[in-house]
Amino acid sequence: MKKILKSLCAGMALAAAMSLVSAQEVVTIYAPDGRIAQIYESDLEAYKAVGWYDNFEDTVQTVYAPDGRSETHFKAEIPAYLAVGWFENRDDTLAVIFDGKGNSALIYLAELEAYRAAGWFGHPLRVDPARPMVSLTFDDGPSLSATPVILDVLEKYRVRATFFQLGSEVAKYPLVTKRACEMGCEIGTHTYSHPNLAKLSSWDIASQIRTSSAEISLACGSAPGLLRPPYGSYNDTVKAAASMPLILWSVDTLDWKTRDTQKDIYAVLSSTKDGDIVLMHDIYMPTAEAVKTIVPELLKRGFQLVTVSELAAAKGYSMSAATAYSSFR
Ligand code: NI
Repeated sequence: MKKILKSLCAGMALAAAMSLVSAQEVVTIYAPDGRIAQIYESDLEAYKAVGWYDNFEDTVQTVYAPDGRSETHFKAEIPAYLAVGWFENRDDTLAVIFDGKGNSALIYLAELEAYRAAGWFGHPLRVDPARPMVSLTFDDGPSLSATPVILDVLEKYRVRATFFQLGSEVAKYPLVTKRACEMGCEIGTHTYSHPNLAKLSSWDIASQIRTSSAEISLACGSAPGLLRPPYGSYNDTVKAAASMPLILWSVDTLDWKTRDTQKDIYAVLSSTKDGDIVLMHDIYMPTAEAVKTIVPELLKRGFQLVTVSELAAAKGYSMSAATAYSSFR
């Protein structure tokens, strides 16, 4: 009797222990290198914290080759693909080329050299001409306040903008300008000290452009190819003295006047169309705050955010000196 009781007790203890185990849900988890493990659900967060996933789909990523091939691999292998020239975004594999007779084509990067050898010209514009696009432009900077915030947003969403900068400010903050260049943004000149060019002599106009271009060259390693005249003010003397295209705008946010984030957002989102050039200023924090909403919303609406030169090229324009442009459609 005593013996039976003892084994009964042992059995009950075992059953109790088993019910403890079964109360712990077992889940399957996946490492970024393809390993699979089964763990108690209570340990899930700890595994996730060190990079495991509870969805198999999360462990893989698709990468794109310059010739258009795509492959899906475990995330742990992705850096090795990027290191040999593959891309995370399909758009990055594309280039736009032109034959100079009004014809353009969208090709893969891998084909670019062959087309160039055949007399076409083009760049890895990372722009798809078939999709809508817009250029955000920022005047009067660089600044130490708004410009870095705007660059952070552009970097986060992997998009580009054009900055029309003052030589006087580039001289103060050359590293801000350098960062913008290195991110693939375009730097145009907005003169050295923001005068009304229409009131200056040809010599003074040329001097404003020469001195500001020198500062931009020092910061970026290349001279600007576009001028935005302060106040949008120009005449024939300005056009002749500029010796580069003049870039105006088709969407005016009036951010310098309102200094109001919500109004900036509304000004852009209520009217921006394919081919527009949007005017803002990277010296006001309300503008920088607005950019945090404007960029993701334009992307959501299918716009590509490109530089002014990319926009012109993708729309089939070859810009000429002494000509003013306010949009490219
Ligand atoms: Ni200005």
